[in-house]
Amino acid sequence: MTCWLTLLMGLLWSFAARELAAQDRAARPVGTTATPTDTLAAPPVLQNRSTVPGVVEVTLTAAPARLPLMPGAPTEVYAYNGRIPGPTLELHEGDRVIIHFRNELPEPTTVHWHGLNLPADADGSPFYPVAPGGQFDYVFTIGPGTAGTYWYHPHPDGRAGYQVAKGLYGAIIIRAADDPLPASIPEKLMILSDNRLRPDGSIDLPDPDSPQGQVDMENGREGDVLFVNGQIMPTLPIRSGEVQRWRIINAAAARIFRLALPGQTVLQVGSDGGLFERPVEVGEILLANSERVELLVRGDGLPGGRTMLQTLPYDRYVPQTRPTDWNRARDLVSLSYSRQPPLPRVALPSTLRPIPALDTGQAVVTRVVVMTQGLINGKVMDMSRVDFHGRLGTTEIWEIENLVGMDHPFHLHGFHFQVLDRNGVPEPSRRWKDTINVPGHETVRIIVRFDGYAGKWMFHCHIPPPPPSLATAGRSVLPGSGSGPARAIPGYLTCMRWVPRRR
Ligand code: C2O
Ligand code: CU
Repeated sequence: MTCWLTLLMGLLWSFAARELAAQDRAARPVGTTATPTDTLAAPPVLQNRSTVPGVVEVTLTAAPARLPLMPGAPTEVYAYNGRIPGPTLELHEGDRVIIHFRNELPEPTTVHWHGLNLPADADGSPFYPVAPGGQFDYVFTIGPGTAGTYWYHPHPDGRAGYQVAKGLYGAIIIRAADDPLPASIPEKLMILSDNRLRPDGSIDLPDPDSPQGQVDMENGREGDVLFVNGQIMPTLPIRSGEVQRWRIINAAAARIFRLALPGQTVLQVGSDGGLFERPVEVGEILLANSERVELLVRGDGLPGGRTMLQTLPYDRYVPQTRPTDWNRARDLVSLSYSRQPPLPRVALPSTLRPIPALDTGQAVVTRVVVMTQGLINGKVMDMSRVDFHGRLGTTEIWEIENLVGMDHPFHLHGFHFQVLDRNGVPEPSRRWKDTINVPGHETVRIIVRFDGYAGKWMFHCHIPPPPPSLATAGRSVLPGSGSGPARAIPGYLTCMRWVPRRR
């Protein structure tokens, strides 16, 4: 009995080592494999308990759990409904959504529905914390034109980074009744994330004063293990000639993925706020944390072959804290061809939907947003301060400048925007965005129309402050602030709010 167990554990460990080693190698060109088995498991969809048409009513609980993140020792995590990633919230445009949320964590939390246009009190921002043992009903309606790929994650004041590192994240898919892409195209969801574990399986959350703690403070927390839907290098089968629709979410705290799929034709059809006006053929895709893409991948390889979805080296760092292995390509998913004969070519639409340009002539103000390490316009996050006041129904231009050498992904809550230009170069195609990467020493101009809901909205860099370990969390609590780290200067989640006032 014991030796069977030992043998089994040995097998699991060697599996883990093999998978990790495989993840580190560069992609091979198309070669031969056995008939591929689909191991890319998408999280289950949250069960709708409403029988009323157009109403989605679900229950979501955040609680501590013990889960095997890697084969071997289980990890003490935080999980939504007991799994990582959390279950997928699948909705349709026009749905009325009621999420009964229960916080069974030992600390306050919120659930932020990243990218959705909804009432401010349903946004899950730090202004609406849910106490340990508490409950909150998030109620909102999905507007027309919002079909796309989104995600949800905790957003409590000062603790978002810790809770995401512990495992709290999940996907949102919103569907349109008039989706222009053929329904016959199979859909694949890929939630990308990373983590860093100690040999005993625990999540590595270094002391902020340690060398690694200092690096995390500068870069945001990156992990060396890359996950796709919580799995390490899963296999996705495809048939020659087949077209698949991939929805990819970057749920990592700080890592920017530079995605490539050697040997494949890839059409990008959408990003944060849904479909483009027309498909764009792409070679590689830069996906900053919190950004999403929708791709059409056509199986161009030969039956029995395979290729890899990879992330290529991307230098988002300052030289002092650039990781030594930053220039290594990593494999994410093995795309394996079945031995079936090629499928006939699928006809794809050449236009998807109109995206009317927001009119710069309508802009009532141009705001300058300057990002440096941990600061926006020279200020750290303060929950009681409001930095900009605006009006519902108006259009604004925001000039977002990154004055430092490291990339900063900028996110605005509650409203989608369009990118006008980057460093003065007009954006080649229009798309709806809620997060935009601003590379070091670059400037991005966006245009936004504040349609929707009045309230206090956040904007910030989407690299949360690195989570203090539990041991240091106690001593870094600011008196009176509840949960924010006392190290005020290095916090990256510099948040300012925008208060639309009704005319
Ligand atoms: Cu993805 Cu302020 O959040
Ligand atoms: Cu930043």
